[in-house]
Amino acid sequence: MLTFGGVMVYTAWGIRELGTTLTRLHTSLVPLPSMVAEVKSDLRRLSLVAGLNDRNSLLRAVDRLQKGDQTPQRLAQRLDKMRSRLERRDGSPEAQALLAHFQRLDSEYRAMDTQLKTFFRALEDGEDITVFRRPTRRAIAKLAREVEFFGLETSRALSRTIDVFEQDEDQLAWGAIFLATVATLLGLLITFLATRMLNPLRALREGVERVADGQYDTPVMTKANDELGLLATEFNRMAEAIRRRDAKLNEQQKTLLQREQLATVGRMSAQITHELRNPLSSIGLNSELMMEELAASQQTSSVDNARDLLMSITREVDRLKEITEEYLRFARLPVPEKSLVDLNHTAAELIDFFRSEMERAGVKMRLDPDPVPKPVEVDPNQVRAALINLIRNAKEAMAHGGHIVLRIRRVGDVVYVEVTDSGGGIQVDTQERLFEPFYSTKAQGTGLGLSMVKQIVDAHDGFIRVKSSPGQGTTFRLSFPTRISAEEDDV
Ligand SMILES: Nc1ncnc2c1ncn2[C@@H]1O[C@H](COP(=O)(O)OP(=O)(O)O)[C@@H](O)[C@H]1O
Ligand SMILES: [Mg+2]
Repeated sequence: MLTFGGVMVYTAWGIRELGTTLTRLHTSLVPLPSMVAEVKSDLRRLSLVAGLNDRNSLLRAVDRLQKGDQTPQRLAQRLDKMRSRLERRDGSPEAQALLAHFQRLDSEYRAMDTQLKTFFRALEDGEDITVFRRPTRRAIAKLAREVEFFGLETSRALSRTIDVFEQDEDQLAWGAIFLATVATLLGLLITFLATRMLNPLRALREGVERVADGQYDTPVMTKANDELGLLATEFNRMAEAIRRRDAKLNEQQKTLLQREQLATVGRMSAQITHELRNPLSSIGLNSELMMEELAASQQTSSVDNARDLLMSITREVDRLKEITEEYLRFARLPVPEKSLVDLNHTAAELIDFFRSEMERAGVKMRLDPDPVPKPVEVDPNQVRAALINLIRNAKEAMAHGGHIVLRIRRVGDVVYVEVTDSGGGIQVDTQERLFEPFYSTKAQGTGLGLSMVKQIVDAHDGFIRVKSSPGQGTTFRLSFPTRISAEEDDV
């Protein structure tokens, strides 16, 4: 804007200068050639009159000159006017330079004027004029030459001035074009620089808006290497820190909620189990006693029937006892008692433990041990209990037999155990609820198994992950840190 203002001021100033020159020319130099022409015609007239030979016609002509068109007085006036043009203060410098020439012309005029007056007086006085005629004519001719010369000088000065004027005009035009080009280039440069400066700012502002909307995962991209670039980097770090803290808080909140849920469930389970346990035991005990009594008495068919009924009562009571035991295990999950455990070894033991059960169910079990085993600090009983739950679930998912693989591996600071089955897999909506207490899709299920597994893993600062798609089998992975709380001290 400023540059364009400068161009405007420059152009306006130039035009004003040209205008002043033009006015000066107009008031001083321009009228001169026509004045010179008038003076010349006056002189021609005088010369003609002075050339007349006949005394009478000469007398008449002089009379006409002095009283009629008053040529001598007019000549004097015209020369006066020319001088005043040349002497004007606001006139062009060229006009002032011409003044020297005019001075010569003027003195010639005075000489001529004196001659002319003497000549006319002699004529009027009736003297012999032949002596005066020649010098008068010579004086007129001399003045005419001087006027001619002055006229030439005038037109020369005029054309010189016009040349300079044209040059000035050209200069002004080119100057204006040059300045306008410079201004345009400058404007483009400034626009370019401003855009480049504003780009990182805009990116930063968008980043701030995203963070305000809770999107922490799209960093601010900027190529700037200056303070703005630094600011963007710091801003990204801040957003990343907020994102991590957010995720951690979410996780903690979820865990807290689950823990609270589990605590309630645990208290309820303990209560119910406690209430059920004693009556169940006495029912079981009494049934067994009755069976012994019956065995001692007479063998009749109705007694046989009664014994069958009692046996089924005992079976049901046993199942109820099992369930209450599971509730109790769940409710009274103790704090882990950790020791260094080789998980390869634990898995091998479990395969032995399950051998006959799996054979009956038509399930083949296999161990894929860690080739470079490293002991982990865990509670061996709890990890065993967790794995037993996973293996039982796997078996139950394969009604017509299949495979179970136990895989142990170490990745960095984490050791994991995977239980993979070739069963029917888990539906997506079921996957979301797997770890809820009492969630079960089985007719006889308690829905406490996976909930307990999760509790155990949490108590070890570990993770549980499930990978399953319907019809493709399922893998549960338990991860245990070899260093306790390894992933917690980095935020
Ligand atoms: N290996 C598996 N394959 C398919 N479904 C599974 C598997 N493990 C768990 N589930 C599903 O998760 C539910 C919850 O399991 P769990 O908590 O052990 O309770 P329960 O075994 O008493 O049903 C099961 O009812 C079942 O639907
Ligand atoms: Mg189960």
